[in-house]
Amino acid sequence: MGQTIVSERIHPQIRKPKFPLEKIKRESGFGKKIPFFTAFLSSLSVLFPEGERFFIRSVKAFQNEIQDETLRSEIKAFAGQEAVHGNVHDKLNERFVEIGLDFRSHEKMFCWLFFDILEKNILKLFPVWGKRLALSITAAAEHFTATLGRFLLSLPPEKVAWIDPITWKIIEWHSLEELEHKAVAFDVYQKSGGGYFTRIFGMTIAVQLLGLLAVVGTVRALFYFGFPNPKQIVRDIRFFFGSPGFTWAVIFYILEYYYWGFHPNNEDDQALIAKFSTIVASSAY
Ligand SMILES: [Fe+2]
Ligand SMILES: [Fe+2]
Repeated sequence: MGQTIVSERIHPQIRKPKFPLEKIKRESGFGKKIPFFTAFLSSLSVLFPEGERFFIRSVKAFQNEIQDETLRSEIKAFAGQEAVHGNVHDKLNERFVEIGLDFRSHEKMFCWLFFDILEKNILKLFPVWGKRLALSITAAAEHFTATLGRFLLSLPPEKVAWIDPITWKIIEWHSLEELEHKAVAFDVYQKSGGGYFTRIFGMTIAVQLLGLLAVVGTVRALFYFGFPNPKQIVRDIRFFFGSPGFTWAVIFYILEYYYWGFHPNNEDDQALIAKFSTIVASSAY
């Protein structure tokens, strides 16, 4: 396969942080200064709880086919981490409703489109391949969350100063754990016999669905946050297209996934994981 794995396997660690969500104010949300990115993060938060439960289902559907003891225990840790992520984002989304940022209809639209229409019917029509496709979509989405996590944790402090401090703590913790378990779904996919074409088909579906939902969610969120002023628009464009540039990072990492010999551990995140494990462990929450 030509895979060059540079990073060692890291066993995901389940943490149960408690965040003072009641302190998040309407004026801040995820942070006001970069409105498009703030709106984008808010729209993702809405997709996380049910999305992460889908990840757990699709990985667990293959756990009996995995003989490797290390990977089996990583599956448990992966499911544990994603379950806590789902619960924290549920509470965060409830807090958003309390402060007037009500995205429940967006969440409903996502669940209807993805679970009621796609997941249910594909699994009914193609029970074996459907399970495989669900896992490949999960592996692709996990690559996306690891990419987003790496991008956010690599930003210099002055670039994250605009983010609300409580939501930043949630981002730090969630991003760290996404990096820790970035290879689990992918390894389960490969070790259970998943091939290249369904793998990239899963990424193609994930990109289109996530792209559509993120764009619709971001536009809807902007109505809550208020349309940005010209200064903010310039800052947003720089954030998305300047250096380090969120857009370029996403395009690069999505294309990388289509490489035949791709593996999540081709990217070495050990220094970031070590740094943020300490930060998250010493956090007051
Ligand atoms: Fe997660
Ligand atoms: Fe994840």
